[in-house]
Amino acid sequence: MPDSILTLDGVGVRFGGLKAVDDVSLCVKRGERRAIIGPNGAGKTTLFNAISGVIRPTSGRVTFEGRDVTSAPPHRRAAAGISRTFQITNLFPSLTVRENMELAIWGLVARKFSFFGSRKLTAGEDARAKRALELARLGARADVLVSALSYGEQRQLELAMTLATSPKMLLLDEPAAGLSPSERIIVADVIRALPTDLTIILIEHDMDLVLSLVDWVTCLSNGRFLAEGAPAEIRTNADIQDVYLGRARPHA
Ligand SMILES: Nc1ncnc2c1ncn2[C@@H]1O[C@H](COP(=O)(O)OP(=O)(O)O)[C@@H](O)[C@H]1O
Ligand SMILES: [Mg+2]
Repeated sequence: MPDSILTLDGVGVRFGGLKAVDDVSLCVKRGERRAIIGPNGAGKTTLFNAISGVIRPTSGRVTFEGRDVTSAPPHRRAAAGISRTFQITNLFPSLTVRENMELAIWGLVARKFSFFGSRKLTAGEDARAKRALELARLGARADVLVSALSYGEQRQLELAMTLATSPKMLLLDEPAAGLSPSERIIVADVIRALPTDLTIILIEHDMDLVLSLVDWVTCLSNGRFLAEGAPAEIRTNADIQDVYLGRARPHA
């Protein structure tokens, strides 16, 4: 498809006998906001791993901007513009917000350099770091130690760190997990205000939150594609309600 940025064709990931992701095909348009939903164990994180390159799919094809990246390693996909956050935060608590941003930028541009053989950011990189912190609403917190940030701010920093790498597509794995209701609102506002040309794929359990953020929803169940649709259709989709509520339907 000409305006698609990401295409998955029959992607499968097996762990021994378990098909964690089973024959999933989908197409995401440039600038789209897409949610991947499904119960625990549905294969959502594994699908992200297959897209970002952390795991190589055991079958199928991943195409990003028209290029087959199915067997490209994670750093090549990151350099191509695929950026992700993890379900578990991955920050350096004894460093400041700004220092964590530097590590994020060096991770992309000079991954072979030692962390401690540090150099200064170039003016362009510094501007990129500042802009990313502002987008994540942490502009005023640059000199604060990460250990002094609230949990919500740490998730915002994680977002800023991925934004600093100038991604074309952002994969967010449960960005609001474990947050208080007020922290959730901030993270949702940050995501909503991200540049509209940035493609975002979001895994999130909080249905109200996710449906308020995306254009289109794909639902997985047991590794397989179950349903997709606009948020309004998803709210009333009986199959999705069934898998979330753990109900068996009388016949399928
Ligand atoms: N590295 C792994 N090795 C073996 N099994 C895994 C691994 N990662 C995930 N799984 C299994 O794959 C299935 C899908 O997991 P996951 O993708 O984490 O689901 P979700 O993110 O939707 O909760 C689960 O049954 C999980 O236990
Ligand atoms: Mg997961």
